[in-house]
Amino acid sequence: MRRPTSSGNSPGQITPEARPRTLDAAAAADALLPLHVRGVCFDVAGRRLIDGVTFDLRAGTRTVLLGPNGAGKSLMLRLCHGLIQPTAGQIEWNNGGARQKGAQAMVFQRPVMLRRSALANVEYALAVSGCPRGRRKEIAMGVLERTGLARIASRPARVLSAGEQQQVALARAWALEPQVLFLDEPTSSLDPAASAAVEKLIAAIFASGTKIFMTTHDLGQARRLSDEVLFMHHGRLLECAPSEAFFAQPRTPEAAAYLQGDLTW
Ligand SMILES: Nc1ncnc2c1ncn2[C@@H]1O[C@H](COP(=O)(O)OP(=O)(O)OP(=O)(O)O)[C@@H](O)[C@H]1O
Ligand SMILES: [Mg+2]
Repeated sequence: MRRPTSSGNSPGQITPEARPRTLDAAAAADALLPLHVRGVCFDVAGRRLIDGVTFDLRAGTRTVLLGPNGAGKSLMLRLCHGLIQPTAGQIEWNNGGARQKGAQAMVFQRPVMLRRSALANVEYALAVSGCPRGRRKEIAMGVLERTGLARIASRPARVLSAGEQQQVALARAWALEPQVLFLDEPTSSLDPAASAAVEKLIAAIFASGTKIFMTTHDLGQARRLSDEVLFMHHGRLLECAPSEAFFAQPRTPEAAAYLQGDLTW
């Protein structure tokens, strides 16, 4: 199992691994990606909230899911992560849907921190993922050092600022070395400096070989952090395009209106 190593870097610096993860044959057999989403629907009380969505999530790219409030972005992330089940259609992982512990992780808009230190929060996630007790502290401290968070390792996680908590949540996810990281508006409640720190951390996690699938309403962030864009509206997937093409020339009037801040229906 690949583990981040401690580099002893100073606070504020993030050290991506020296080289991106390469898949050997054994790892390839274990690879979760691509994820195939086929005709997925999600209904609640007779209301269709996700309507026949089809796309593939490939390894090695950053995919940003855009769309106005209520488009179905959070539901789509939860469906992919397996927190809810589709009422129709299929969501199939490359390796047959095996859900190895820690192989995919999700970070929410407001992270849930346990009532213990930042370090112990990371150690707990490692314990849940099956990491041997004797290795947890070293791995947890290593990832906090790599993310520039060593100085707050012993502080109670719940009294950290929103930005620090979100960085700890990302470090906690990174410690698991997920193949896929789902991020639902990870910076929406943060100020510009904290957002920048979180973006830097997401970039480092991607550089270490983790697929990124995230939502955001910050279009600048979407441009900075995406290789491809999925655009949803009213539960339907309207566009799937390389991000440069999407931002330069969206194909649907809905996406064009959204980018101009004019999507009012
Ligand atoms: N459990 C639920 N029961 C009923 N309706 C739901 C449920 N979860 C979500 N919805 C509805 O589904 C639609 C899509 O919700 P979702 O949270 O996925 O939107 P979103 O695109 O993430 O929006 P935002 O940008 O505001 O986060 C919304 O109309 C929401 O009210
Ligand atoms: Mg949402």
